[in-house]
Amino acid sequence: MKEKVEQLKTEATAALAAAKDAAELEALEIKYLGRKGEMAALMQGMAGLSSSERPAMGKLANEVKVAVERALSERKKEIEAEKLGAIATSEWIDLTAPGARPPKGHVHLVTDAVSAITEIFSRLGFTRVRYPEVEWDWYAFEALNMPKDHPARDEWETFFMDAPEDPKLGKMVLTPHTSSGQVREMKKGKLPIRMINISKTYRRQSDVTHVPMFHQFEGLMIDKGVAVTHLKGVLDHFAREFFGPERKTRLRPFHFRFTEPSFEIDISCDLCGGTGLIGGTKCRVCKEGWLELGGAGMVHPNVLKAGGVDPEKWSGFAFGWGVERTMMMREGVKIDDIRHLYRNDFRFLSQF
Ligand code: FA5
Repeated sequence: MKEKVEQLKTEATAALAAAKDAAELEALEIKYLGRKGEMAALMQGMAGLSSSERPAMGKLANEVKVAVERALSERKKEIEAEKLGAIATSEWIDLTAPGARPPKGHVHLVTDAVSAITEIFSRLGFTRVRYPEVEWDWYAFEALNMPKDHPARDEWETFFMDAPEDPKLGKMVLTPHTSSGQVREMKKGKLPIRMINISKTYRRQSDVTHVPMFHQFEGLMIDKGVAVTHLKGVLDHFAREFFGPERKTRLRPFHFRFTEPSFEIDISCDLCGGTGLIGGTKCRVCKEGWLELGGAGMVHPNVLKAGGVDPEKWSGFAFGWGVERTMMMREGVKIDDIRHLYRNDFRFLSQF
């Protein structure tokens, strides 16, 4: 019996060590270690031994089993390693080749424009401020020289909040323009002022050049002796920095209740090259070669008073531009519908 066991050990370990591949190894595993294999048969054979022989033979049989199992697992590892080595030599791998780049995002076009605008004005000494997006009627209209029921208020197509009215400040609204920040800034009581207020604004509008939620940037400068020439200088500087020296801006006389005199600022349209025509048809964004970007003017004395600023001593200018339209007019951007910006279509956004 002892010889038989030792012979099984020699034969099995030699066969396992010589196995060529995983399939052969599996067949040998079944042959020697399977439920009906040779080790199992050996164990069954123990039953016929006398009780004096059985313990020593049982111990030996166990040692053989462990040795066969070890031989199996060692050969398994070797075959795995041989397989990997074969792949490495059969498939040519250039370890110095650069890896595939993971997809990389970027900030939204509007966020990018807000950063660029902030930077240009901060170089002129304008500090960025933020005011509430839910505002009182008083700051949005009344303090801006727009008495209740004045028809000019209709132009803002405001969203009113379903909230109780304040006896002094009136209804609550979604900020229809960043001009509401003018009086809030004055009320801080620190003069002179050079602020740039960039915020979300809301109106009930939607077409090629309007979205219900958009951004405005509002500049306000109050100091002694501020004149229209300063306003023109600041806006020209911004236009040169943001759009480059080639583009043209123009000031058109306009009427706002909170500035006097007032202007609207247009830029030569980048989409049609300022001609108003694309391939013989009217440019769908500007229609005439110029696109309105915002309003501006000298702060009305009544607005200064509402902010607690003495109009006899101080004067100032203000301007409010749309961020989306300004960004759309950047050279080469060529977006022909402002609504694309907020459709969250990845195919559109990833072009920029
Ligand atoms: C105003 O909102 C004034 N508060 C601007 C101002 C500030 C004048 C300070 C004087 C002094 P207006 O309604 O024209 O003005 O809007 C200004 C700009 O905001 C527009 O020229 C346009 O660029 C942008 N804008 C207005 N409505 C929308 C909209 N629905 N979608 C996208 N942009 C808009």
